[in-house]
Parts: sequence; structure tokens; C-alpha cells
Amino acid sequence: MAHLKHPDSRSTIHMEDSIVISHHHYDDRQHVLRLHCPQCASHAVHGQFVHLQCDRSLLLRRPFSIMRARPDEGWIDLLYKEVGQGTMLLAKQAEGSVLNLLGSIGNPFILHEDKPIRILIGGGVGIPPMIFVAETIRQQYPSDTDMTYAFMGSEISFPFTVLNSELPVPGVTAHHAIEDMENISIPSRLASLRYLTGCYRGHVTELAEKFLQTLSPERLQIAEIFSCGPRPMLYATKRLAMKYNIDCQISMEEYMACATGGCAGCNVKITGPDGPAMKRVCVDGPVFDASLVEL
Ligand SMILES: Cc1cc2nc3c(=O)[nH]c(=O)nc-3n(C[C@H](O)[C@H](O)[C@H](O)COP(=O)(O)OP(=O)(O)OC[C@H]3O[C@@H](n4cnc5c(N)ncnc54)[C@H](O)[C@@H]3O)c2cc1C
Ligand code: FES
Repeated sequence: MAHLKHPDSRSTIHMEDSIVISHHHYDDRQHVLRLHCPQCASHAVHGQFVHLQCDRSLLLRRPFSIMRARPDEGWIDLLYKEVGQGTMLLAKQAEGSVLNLLGSIGNPFILHEDKPIRILIGGGVGIPPMIFVAETIRQQYPSDTDMTYAFMGSEISFPFTVLNSELPVPGVTAHHAIEDMENISIPSRLASLRYLTGCYRGHVTELAEKFLQTLSPERLQIAEIFSCGPRPMLYATKRLAMKYNIDCQISMEEYMACATGGCAGCNVKITGPDGPAMKRVCVDGPVFDASLVEL
């Protein structure tokens, strides 16, 4: 693929005191947090993240992808899972709490005009940026109703309203979809290794492949994959893209201290046209051309 060309993403980073508007709690310690942060909301684009002070007692911030942003109302949504001290303290924040954040950070996914078939593959806490990508696609291409398909995987319950889909996905018999995606006419399907009603039982990349197998060589040439999730899933996604010779953009996660490009704590190895180089996930990513990343 032509290498992703991003403008300097640091121009969108601002520090802001955000206010918790709402905090919804789902099964398996998953939460959706709505923050009032007009600066961040007005700059946020699909694929970016915020670096959030989860609690005043913590020295280090934690990075979270932006799931959706409403510049006109000044808020963003984050979906997160409790895994350690920071996210456990975050889960205790009530409406009205003030949480300082840096955002919006990072390079977004790029929607190439010559690749109108867009396949979104999200896993676990990699689902939120895929929701943002889907909403952006629908906003930018309101009439392309059979061009974008989303496949989401989770080994715990999905923190979304799930329903029987009315939007067919060629090659796929599983019928459960995410209501938010259905509402914007983007067909979605779910995968899990657990026995979940209406979901494909297996890996999300296997589910996506069922769909890819139905595409003609001509349609494969104009397809592109967008993905975010755990590293093994990104590896499988990259292999899938190679197998079908499809361009693929992935969003990476790394431990982050500053998230503004200053500490090099989030370096990953990228092999570009000039050979291998270390790139910072926070400001050079988090979105990279999958073919350049060692997974
Ligand atoms: C760009 C980016 C976007 C992210 N988006 C989301 C999101 O939308 N929702 C969400 O729930 N999480 C997201 N994460 C991961 C989230 O930042 C970590 O789960 C969080 O920092 C953990 O903090 P903690 O103090 O609760 O846990 P810690 O005590 O720091 O760690 C607990 C566990 O989480 C793992 N962990 C911690 N940080 C990371 C990390 N950066 N990447 C992978 N594993 C980690 C550790 O291995 C450990 O097992 C994102 C990370 C990055 C880099
Ligand atoms: S976290 Fe400091 S450079 Fe990326």
C-alpha cells in the first residue's frame, strides 16, 4: 500500500479539565464514560485517543481510545475495561467528577477514496475506535450502504445493545449485530470463543474471512481492512490481509508515559522504505500500515 501520510498530529493535543457527564456500568467490569471536554471533542477524529488522569491520587495518566465525539455538544465517549489500579479508580468516578485529560492524540485511520469497501475488525477494548471509524464513514459516505462491514470479537459480554440484524452479511450465518451499527446501516457481526447466542463461535478474523471469501478479485482490489485489538488478533488480521492481498491499517497499543512524543517509552519497530526504524505509538501512530509493523 502507499504509505500512510499523516499530518503532524500533535496540533490537536490540548490539556483540559473534563467533567463526567455520565458513567454507565456493564457486565464483566466494562464501563462507558461520557466526558464534557469541548476542546478535545472539537478536534477528535476516528483513531485518536486521550491520556486521562483516572484519579487525582495517580501520578501517571492512562490512554483510552475515543469511541465517539460530538463537537456540537462538547463531549466524547470512552469504553474501558477494569484491568488494574488506574481503571479501577476510574470506575469509581461519579457524575460531576473532574478528570484532567490530554487530547485528542495520535494519527487517525485514513479513509482512502480508491478503497471504498471497508472492513472493520475490532477485538475487546479495540472495539471503541472501530465504532468511531464506522460513524465517520457513515457521515462522509451517507449513501454507500453496502460497502462497510464490521466484525467484532470479545471473550466477555459485549457492552452494547445486541439485536437480530436486518442487514445481511454475505457468507455469514451468525445473526447478532450491534444496535449502534445497525442504526447507521452498517452491517456488523459478532464472534466469541464462548457459546453466545447469535454470535459466530471462533476468532473474529475467521468470521471476517467468511465474508472475504465471497468477494470477487475486483472487489478485493478496492477493499481495505481497519483493525484494533489485542496483538494476537492484529497478527491474525495482518495475515488475513496478506492472504487476500488487501491493504490494512492497524491501531497499536503500548504502555505510555507522556503520550506526547517526549519519552520514547512507546516505541515499536517499523520497517519502511528506508529500512527499520523505531516509531512512537503515541504521536507517530497509533495507526500504522500493518505491512510495516513487526507483530
Ligand atoms: C492508544 C491506546 C488506546 C487504548 N484504548 C483503550 C480503550 O479504549 N479501552 C480500554 O479499556 N483500554 C484501552 N487501552 C488500554 C488501557 O490504557 C490500559 O488498560 C490501562 O492503561 C490500564 O491501566 P490500569 O492502571 O488499570 O492497569 P495496570 O495496572 O497498568 O495494568 C493492568 C493490566 O493491563 C495491562 N495493560 C496496561 N496498560 C496496557 C496497555 N497500554 N496496553 C495493553 N495492556 C496494558 C497490563 O499488562 C496489566 O495486565 C488503550 C491503550 C492505548 C495505548
Ligand atoms: S509515551 Fe512518551 S513518547 Fe510515546
